[in-house]
Amino acid sequence: MIRKVPVIGHPIGLLDLFFALFCRKAQLEFCRELKDEIFVRHAYLANTGIASFYIVLSVLKKLSHAKEVILPCYTAPSLVVAVRRAGLKPVLCDISLDDFNADLNDLFKRINENTLCVVAVHMYGIPWAGIEELNKKRGKNNIFIVEDCAQAFGAKIRGTSVGAFGDIGFFSFNRGKNLPIYEGGCIVTESRELAVLLEKEIVLHPKQSLFEHFALGFKLFALSFAFKPFFYWLLYPVIARFKENSVPSGFEVRQYVAYPAAVGLRLLKKIQKPFEMRYNNSRMLLEALGGAEGLILPKIAPGITPMFNRMPVVIKDKDKVEKVLKALEDEGIECSRFYFKPLHHLFDLGYNKDEFPNAVYLAERLLTLPVHPFVGKRDIEKMVTIIRETISDPASEYR
Ligand SMILES: Cc1ncc(COP(=O)(O)O)c(C=O)c1O
Repeated sequence: MIRKVPVIGHPIGLLDLFFALFCRKAQLEFCRELKDEIFVRHAYLANTGIASFYIVLSVLKKLSHAKEVILPCYTAPSLVVAVRRAGLKPVLCDISLDDFNADLNDLFKRINENTLCVVAVHMYGIPWAGIEELNKKRGKNNIFIVEDCAQAFGAKIRGTSVGAFGDIGFFSFNRGKNLPIYEGGCIVTESRELAVLLEKEIVLHPKQSLFEHFALGFKLFALSFAFKPFFYWLLYPVIARFKENSVPSGFEVRQYVAYPAAVGLRLLKKIQKPFEMRYNNSRMLLEALGGAEGLILPKIAPGITPMFNRMPVVIKDKDKVEKVLKALEDEGIECSRFYFKPLHHLFDLGYNKDEFPNAVYLAERLLTLPVHPFVGKRDIEKMVTIIRETISDPASEYR
């Protein structure tokens, strides 16, 4: 077998990388296109998603004395790092085993007069349905809603893009996301007041250096090959050495430069086809795995249109998770455990280890499967056969 399907992927054309070199002021146009796509008034770029989140927190801090930031307990660990760096306190809530996003009832219990904001994370590309209810009920509590759309570019609730529901939202364009420019982030808001503060805050940070600029070009060139199953198979021995699962400790905050913005702009203009492929692949997977004993699949509430970044599946028997992973790997399909632990096991946040039982359960049993445009029908059939057989059939060759 001379192919290996990576867990993340997106078509990046060499011509896009080349012509982007000649686009000098791409940041403004990229922001304009993003505003049209997300349907918001203001959009600003930064070097990463987490830098964008940090900038958001720095701005919200100026508008309130409250110090607590509520996060779902199973999400990107870098969020905790950003909250702490902003001098704020992370407060966790459990997740729901329906859509694997925040549990709204548990979240309500965590809101108090010291809550600065709730971070509404749309994990895996599944819009968090609870955001509408939270919007209605936050009422007299003067809290902000920050949407973390890092994994959910292209996802919608009742036809409206995520990022347009909270007071402010941010996206990530890192190499694993639905619009991958190797790295990058964007902040969006409808609020004029927040926009003015954002503009002032962003210019306090330095621009990406010329070296970073060139390095990014080179990384994007490598990525345009590495996403393709043949090249991924060929390059895997080298790529595997750079894979790491360590807990992030810090991050840089930079203004975004023209080259990656120009690449982003070119990729954004042809995003519809990759979106359709992601959507179709995920639908096929969900349908084919539906009803399998031993699996929990995300339930998609009415009105929700996910744009899966990866397909999350929970394998009830935790001893089988590694077996499924290995069996898929042997057949040339990479899937991933995602974050190995919930946030309160990674950081000392003052919680007991057995708090947030759903997040603990999920972290031990979650697998994420590839659904990107390089995943073919045969790959989906393989994934379904291997998963079904491994979790249920005692005689399976994969057991
Ligand atoms: C849910 C979530 N939020 C925030 C981030 C941070 O984005 P970035 O990697 O661009 O800093 C990520 C990145 O993986 C993420 O998955």
